[in-house]
Amino acid sequence: MANTDFSTRWADIYRGRRNHIRSKIGDGITLWLGHSLQPRNYTDNTYPFRQNSHFLYYTGLSQPNLALLSFPEPDHDVLFAQPENIDDIIWSGKRLSPHDLACDAGIETVEDEERLETYLSEARTRGLKIHYLAPYQYSSLFKIAQLLNIRTGDVGPGASQHLMEQVACQRSVKSDVEIAEIEEALAITDRMHRACMAAARPGKRESEIAAMIQAIALSCERQQSFTPIVTVRGEVLHNHSYGGILAEGQLLLNDSGVESSRYYASDITRTCPVSGRFTSLQADIYNVVLHMQLETIGMIKPGISYREVHLGACKVMVEDLIGLGLMKGDPSNAVEAGAHALLFPHGIGHMLGLDVHDMEDLGDIVGYSRKEKRSSQFGLNFLRLSRPLEAGFVLTVEPGIYFIPALIDRWKGEGLHKEFINYNRLYPFGSFGGIRIEDNVVVTPTGTRVLGPAIPKTIPEVEQACKA
Ligand code: GLY
Ligand code: MN
Ligand code: MN
Repeated sequence: MANTDFSTRWADIYRGRRNHIRSKIGDGITLWLGHSLQPRNYTDNTYPFRQNSHFLYYTGLSQPNLALLSFPEPDHDVLFAQPENIDDIIWSGKRLSPHDLACDAGIETVEDEERLETYLSEARTRGLKIHYLAPYQYSSLFKIAQLLNIRTGDVGPGASQHLMEQVACQRSVKSDVEIAEIEEALAITDRMHRACMAAARPGKRESEIAAMIQAIALSCERQQSFTPIVTVRGEVLHNHSYGGILAEGQLLLNDSGVESSRYYASDITRTCPVSGRFTSLQADIYNVVLHMQLETIGMIKPGISYREVHLGACKVMVEDLIGLGLMKGDPSNAVEAGAHALLFPHGIGHMLGLDVHDMEDLGDIVGYSRKEKRSSQFGLNFLRLSRPLEAGFVLTVEPGIYFIPALIDRWKGEGLHKEFINYNRLYPFGSFGGIRIEDNVVVTPTGTRVLGPAIPKTIPEVEQACKA
């Protein structure tokens, strides 16, 4: 049980968060559903458990099979948990009691989980509206259907838009304790990236480096915040296979992060040369990506939209690639037409918090203002965050340049944007791969601050770390 000043402080934080959202929701009850264990191939062999991030945000409780009802009156919350049970103690060991869980979350009332349905039906009888977030796990969807006695097809449409908007608004602005959590995660992530650079050499397998990264996280009693990308095929944007063998002259892209003790994510990418030194072609492209990243970080401040920052990064890239002879024409026109997306087909970054793509389950209400719709233009359609920035937002800044042979062949065959792209100059890049540089930043009242320790980023820093 948590009796320390530290956990009492966190219990107060969770209570404060619940009272804030309650004040925004007004009448009605809010149902917060925690996750349940998900079977992998049969019930007792489950995937590693990860709590729902909204449930974590409002309770900090990371155990499965919990639910919370928040009533309109201040501090009026009821936690629903399974009572202690001898079978669970035999197979899984003694857990925190429901009372201790409630105490950790700053909740005064705890009930047997079987009473949840009764509470909800009584609330409905009293005519109270029941707010809930749209679930993304089927087990939660079925549970809500059963609890509210509605059809599964009606669960999504019945979710509370107002609640989703208010949660997105609250969770978007990070407090100092949240930023400290992300920086705790970044301290471990720094070790993961330095170890990767030091280990990269011809003959090493991607799987060995991925295992080393996982070992660092586990030895710190932390889980990774997403499935890491550790690959010499960095042009495959979400490459989750580790079957490659590192060869002389290749680039190794490592996109990985961990969760802090209270489940906040880090999300860092570095790209290093397998042989320890960048070739001049690699260095040219690396410096374009670094230029995009530094310019982007310099642009970030309250009020500017992340779409504008994204387009600014694209323009830097086109200008630099014109200098290298890979692109041509007017940079602004090239970006407006979307020609840059051949080599930079994703967005400049996303929100970061309890989720690596923070609150992506809530959809575009997180990253887009009400009047803005996501673009359908290739490249811009993958911009997850577009809206004006506010102090306290934590973001990733992750430009990249990728040479994707299938995409280059297709665009070239179609003659797409041939007024901006020197297709004939792309031949030497057939097996180049991709380069991404990703940092995590907080928007401050006057600009931005890069979070965590300085992870090697410039060419001399990366080459030095490769020698370590
Ligand atoms: N690690 C996934 C991403 O950078 O968005
Ligand atoms: Mn990443
Ligand atoms: Mn990212």
